[in-house]
Amino acid sequence: MDKSFQVLPEVSVLPAHAPIPGMGFLPVNAFLIKAQEPVLVDSGMGMDSDEFVKILESIIDLRDLKWIFLTHDDSDHTGSLQKVLEAAPRARLATNAVTAMRLNTVWPLPMDRMYWLNPGDSINTGDRTLKVIKPPVFDNPTTIGFYDDKLEVLFSADCFGAIVPEPVQNADDIEEKILVEGMIGWASSDSPWLHLVDQNKLRQSLDKVGQIAPKMIFSSHLPPAQGKTKIFLDTITRVPDSTPFVAPDQKALEVMLQQMKPGDL
Ligand SMILES: [Fe+2]
Ligand SMILES: [Fe+2]
Repeated sequence: MDKSFQVLPEVSVLPAHAPIPGMGFLPVNAFLIKAQEPVLVDSGMGMDSDEFVKILESIIDLRDLKWIFLTHDDSDHTGSLQKVLEAAPRARLATNAVTAMRLNTVWPLPMDRMYWLNPGDSINTGDRTLKVIKPPVFDNPTTIGFYDDKLEVLFSADCFGAIVPEPVQNADDIEEKILVEGMIGWASSDSPWLHLVDQNKLRQSLDKVGQIAPKMIFSSHLPPAQGKTKIFLDTITRVPDSTPFVAPDQKALEVMLQQMKPGDL
C-alpha cells in the first residue's frame, strides 16, 4: 500500500497500486470521509489488510467509525472488511442486499449491522446526505456509488478507472492522452459488455452523471480527479467503438516468465 493522503479537508485516500506487468499500475483506492458520522468507502485488497487497518487507525479512532459504504463485493474492495467491522463495533455496513448475500457465502455477516441500499436511496450522516447512484459502468451487478451533497463530489466505484504509468495522487499529473487511453483500456477490460451496448442508451446513462455535475470524481481505480467530468463522459462514450480487450495468453505468460529475474516468482 501507499501512504494515505488528504485530498479534501474531510476526505482521506487510502491508496494502493497493483502492478500490471508491461502496462503500468492499477490504482486501488479506499476513502475515509470525516463526516459528522464518519464513513469508510470500501476496504482495499486482502494482501494489504494488516497495513490497511494500521493506516486507517492512524487517521481515525475506529470506535468513532459509523459507516462502511461497500460499493460491491469484488475482492479489491473487501480486503479488510471483516477486520474493520470487528475493530469498529459502532459501524454499520451500507451496501446493496445482493452484495451482502454474496459476501455471506464467504463469512457470516452481522445482519443487525447491515444497511441495505438501492440506487435512489440515501444515507444521512448528520451533516450531509450521500445519495446512492448506479455508476454508468460497472463490473459487478451489485455495484453502487454515491454523491456527497455537502462536498459535491461523486464516489464512482470502478467507473472511470484507468491503468496508469506510475502512481500519482492527482489525475492532473497524468498526461490527458495517456489518461484517456488508460481509461478506455480499463473500461474495455473491466466491463467488456460496453462493446455490446446501444451507444445512445450508454450516453443517456452517462448524461445522468453530467447532470449531477460533481466537482470531483473519486474512482476506486484512478487518482482523484477535479473538473474532468466532461472528458470522462466523452471518453467512456468511445469505449463501444474501441478494440475489445483480449487477456494475455499462455505464450505471453511464457515471455513474461523468461523476462523475470530469479526471486521475482
Ligand atoms: Fe469491481
Ligand atoms: Fe474494483
